[in-house]
Amino acid sequence: MTRLKIISCFSLLFLATFQLSAQSIRKEYILDKNWKFKKGDHPEAIEDRFNDLKWETVSVPHDWAIKGPFDGSNDLQKVKIEQNMEKEESVKSGRTGGLPFVGTGWYRLKFRVPGFLPGKKAILQFDGAMSHARVYINGKEAGYWPYGYNSFYFDVTSLLNPAGEANTLAVRLENFSQSSRWYPGAGIYRNVHLFVTEDVYIPVWGTYVTTPVINKEFAKVNLKTRVEAAAAKYSDLHLETEIRNSQGTVVATLKSALGETDGLQFDQNLIVKSPSLWSPETPVLYTAVSRLYQGTTLKDEYKTRFGIRSIKYEAGKGFSLNGEVRKFKGVCNHHDLGPLGAAVNVSALRRQLSLLKDMGCDAIRTSHNMPAPELVALCDEMGFMMMVESFDEWKTPKVKNGYSAYFDEWAEKDLINMIHRDRNSPSVVMWSIGNEVPDQSAEGGNKIAKMLQDICHREDPTRPVTVGMDRINDALTKNFAAILDVPGFNYKPTWYEKANNTLPQGFILGTETASTVSSRGVYKFPVEFQKMKQYDDNQSSSYDFEYCNWSQVPDDEFVKQDDLPFVIGEFVWTGFDYLGEPTPYDSKWPSHSSYFGIIDLAGIPKDRYFLYRSKWNTEKPTLHVLPHWTWPGREGQVTPVFCYTSYPSAELFVNGKSMGRQSKNKTNNQTRYRLMWNDVTYEPGTIKVVAYDEKGNQVASQEIKTAGKPHHIELTADRTELSADGKDLSFVTARVVDAEGNVCPDASNLLSFKVKGAGRYKAAANGDATSLELFHLPYMHAFKGMLVAVVESSEKDGEMKLSVSSKGLKPGVLTIKTVADQ
Ligand code: GAL
Repeated sequence: MTRLKIISCFSLLFLATFQLSAQSIRKEYILDKNWKFKKGDHPEAIEDRFNDLKWETVSVPHDWAIKGPFDGSNDLQKVKIEQNMEKEESVKSGRTGGLPFVGTGWYRLKFRVPGFLPGKKAILQFDGAMSHARVYINGKEAGYWPYGYNSFYFDVTSLLNPAGEANTLAVRLENFSQSSRWYPGAGIYRNVHLFVTEDVYIPVWGTYVTTPVINKEFAKVNLKTRVEAAAAKYSDLHLETEIRNSQGTVVATLKSALGETDGLQFDQNLIVKSPSLWSPETPVLYTAVSRLYQGTTLKDEYKTRFGIRSIKYEAGKGFSLNGEVRKFKGVCNHHDLGPLGAAVNVSALRRQLSLLKDMGCDAIRTSHNMPAPELVALCDEMGFMMMVESFDEWKTPKVKNGYSAYFDEWAEKDLINMIHRDRNSPSVVMWSIGNEVPDQSAEGGNKIAKMLQDICHREDPTRPVTVGMDRINDALTKNFAAILDVPGFNYKPTWYEKANNTLPQGFILGTETASTVSSRGVYKFPVEFQKMKQYDDNQSSSYDFEYCNWSQVPDDEFVKQDDLPFVIGEFVWTGFDYLGEPTPYDSKWPSHSSYFGIIDLAGIPKDRYFLYRSKWNTEKPTLHVLPHWTWPGREGQVTPVFCYTSYPSAELFVNGKSMGRQSKNKTNNQTRYRLMWNDVTYEPGTIKVVAYDEKGNQVASQEIKTAGKPHHIELTADRTELSADGKDLSFVTARVVDAEGNVCPDASNLLSFKVKGAGRYKAAANGDATSLELFHLPYMHAFKGMLVAVVESSEKDGEMKLSVSSKGLKPGVLTIKTVADQ
């Protein structure tokens, strides 16, 4: 039985001051350990006396399907994908990743709540459970929530046993076949919280902060705070609010009494002098600490993190943040974390964001659903603007058993939870109510859009609303695009100009762009533009010339972004490869994951990363040359060399011989952004690019050598010191290199992982969409000379040692520290 450990809702910084009151007033328990899980339907599991000893013991967040095995017949879908312009039905094998997420599964947890004393309130909150959650406490149903991506909560006060007595929590989840266009994950894949409060308290997501006036001298902070109280108990309430800056210093305070006519909501205005503004470059956060008193008794303490920043979307000017016009340099991402599946993990998310930050990316679209709260918190902290999206379909289905069946009853409830949870986050700069909804074409589709947009405006008047539209003709002629705050176009750069002439908004956003396909380290010859190209090996070329029926290569979007001032930015499909949707191999098993990512499923950047970086990262220079230079058998054959660089020109040398200097120029969309030597013939040795600045000075160079035989394994960790919390992760890239340390670009050696000491092996991925090797097993083949092994800290202070070995190679060994209370 688990005795729940309290986590204080105050950061360490505030602990000293608030410890007593925080401990005695509001308690938050994270229900993460010692859950029991079993697949299949087990209705009897709601009973307290049910024997679950033989069930698997798991920790939550948990994804029951990520351990596979992969099978092309899992959720086989015979469909005609209309948005992909398909004319006929065909059988799609890896559409949802080929993983066994379909079916029913049950979770059980036995626990005591030491703080649940008579007169207290208890709220059980799920950040997300996939899907159709039915939650039972001590044999009684606490509630139901169908949408697997949303956060939801139930008041369980009347169901919990008093402190000291045991409780049984049982959760039934069910995933249907043909319910998704990608891998949704399965299980309680996000965190579960139990809050215990007094009978008078601030409810879940009970505060709403806005900053209606911002100037150099001051910001006006408006804080609306709701209160829950039994009818007779809401008299004599007052709220003391403190605003603390990022160092924890109190910068504003206010005490207000609740008037009879206020309903159960305080409305406070505070002034923050000389505010530090939030932006991706300066992600400064403030915290409002609210103390609720009844008479002189402290009833609740509640913390709200927020930022001070202004956003505007204006005709003729576009988008501005804090008064400065800028264009979104964004990516769309799915929620899965590659080899970790859908189970949320903060270090995995932080690593993703760090890679994107270095690329110069400043915005994330959470396609096509509500994100984990941890992602929103990280975007606040690390500086990313967010488009938080809700739905992939409304009333008209895209998949047989998708959200359309729940839309009428649940859409409003789902939007409310999404907005209430995230509307205090400065990172969120717009809401998206849908992606490529077929209702763009339906009679009355614009009425649905208006209805959903109105809900967003009602719940949050400070942010605009968009839809990612693909049926542009219908969207324009059926008065759909015109009613949205932000017209979002998916893959329609050629429409921007004419659409902008007919639309009233005066600006357009590329909600989804590019969808270029590539496999890391794979190069195909001859190098030419290819649409929906399939090869026998189920891979796509990394020369970044391959795309889909509906999509483009990056440069074609860049041109429009650069030349059309009314285009307010783009969200590239996608930042990371994700499980499922293996276009152009949707019908060609084995292939279980996407090719769209700028970064592969293992988190290793593809060449395309450097193309975006060369344009988006304006702080640090980029110089990247491709392909690799180990082509036994290609001697004498044309092997084009590309250079993605932030410098205006570069010269290529093959074995010391100049192939000439190339400069970016506007001859065509590609020469504007890439330097290309198309006629180079391969000879083993060295290729070197030397970059020149605007004045013609040599400023940087990069060299690649023909690799010899695989010799040893080289390891690099993204972090070598982890928190000893049993959850922290280090991502270790293993490279198969020759004796001189050159990556062997075709190496596919089988690598084995061993972890000793204060940690454990968690998973590995190699970015190969066609590999059916299981992520959680401690061995995997390298793909194109590389893979990433993930190790997890234990709860012990100390060191862990990872060794990666392979027959015939000198092993790689790496030590990672684990430190308590990091
Ligand atoms: C879009 C869709 C995305 C993804 C993408 C692939 O049409 O909105 O979810 O399917 O195409 O290019």
